[in-house]
Amino acid sequence: MDPRPIGVFDSGIGGLMAVRMLRHLLPGGPILYLGDTARMPYGDRPAGEIDRLTGELTGWLLRQNVKALIAACGTISCNAGETLQQLPVPCFDVVTAAAEAAAQATRNGKVGLAATSATIRSGCFAEEIERRTGQAVTAVPCPLLAPMIEHGAGPDDPALAAAVAEYCQPLLQSGVDTVVLGCTHYPLIAELFTRILGPEVSLIDCAGEAAKAAAEAMKEQHLLAEGNDPAVTEYRFTALPPQAARQTARRMLGEDFTPRLLPLEKLTAFSTE
Ligand code: DGL
Repeated sequence: MDPRPIGVFDSGIGGLMAVRMLRHLLPGGPILYLGDTARMPYGDRPAGEIDRLTGELTGWLLRQNVKALIAACGTISCNAGETLQQLPVPCFDVVTAAAEAAAQATRNGKVGLAATSATIRSGCFAEEIERRTGQAVTAVPCPLLAPMIEHGAGPDDPALAAAVAEYCQPLLQSGVDTVVLGCTHYPLIAELFTRILGPEVSLIDCAGEAAKAAAEAMKEQHLLAEGNDPAVTEYRFTALPPQAARQTARRMLGEDFTPRLLPLEKLTAFSTE
């Protein structure tokens, strides 16, 4: 048994979807969450920059003595390979687990991928899915969504609904029966995707799938903490999320959500650059 926290990180609030699943699967926690809200979005940045910022996030989490990490962000999972492969603790990303879930969910082999520009550009998410289905993925960059969701736009926001409707056009035209929500912010508005794509299209929540895979692996590696009480979770952000986003988080976590500020200097002071 290992009482150290599991570190979960994202550019903002998207990774909270992984926290929700972890708390459900692994009572006894604890969990330390880090969102780099001061510097989000990551999805428009070049890969080298995403890798450098990821090094700062994981560096801080490792200094807090985490026993394992979940990169609860499609953009980081696909663009920060250099950092993620050199970590001294197990690290789980969102790609493998979500690709696996999509391959299992699809009935006609046609899978769509909605994600940030950096994730689509990397090609890594689509490749992992294609390796399993043997068919080309319909991959759609959705640059407007994560920042809008981060600022509190929900499924009933007309501007957000218009953007999702436009991004879903290629998915509808290609006849996909499964869509991977490959940015962890998108499951926060899953009902909007369902409204536009129709209830017969299966949606894959990449953060939830990553948390399931991590929980499974941690059980096998005897990395769990003792106890059945709800996991104690500490939420740290480099800029405090706006009120509307906090409400989204509260609604999604189903309980109180108290974000605490982590000044950016705490991350950058240790940066090697
Ligand atoms: N939540 C992040 C992801 O899964 C992206 C948001 C951003 O662009 O920062 O890709």
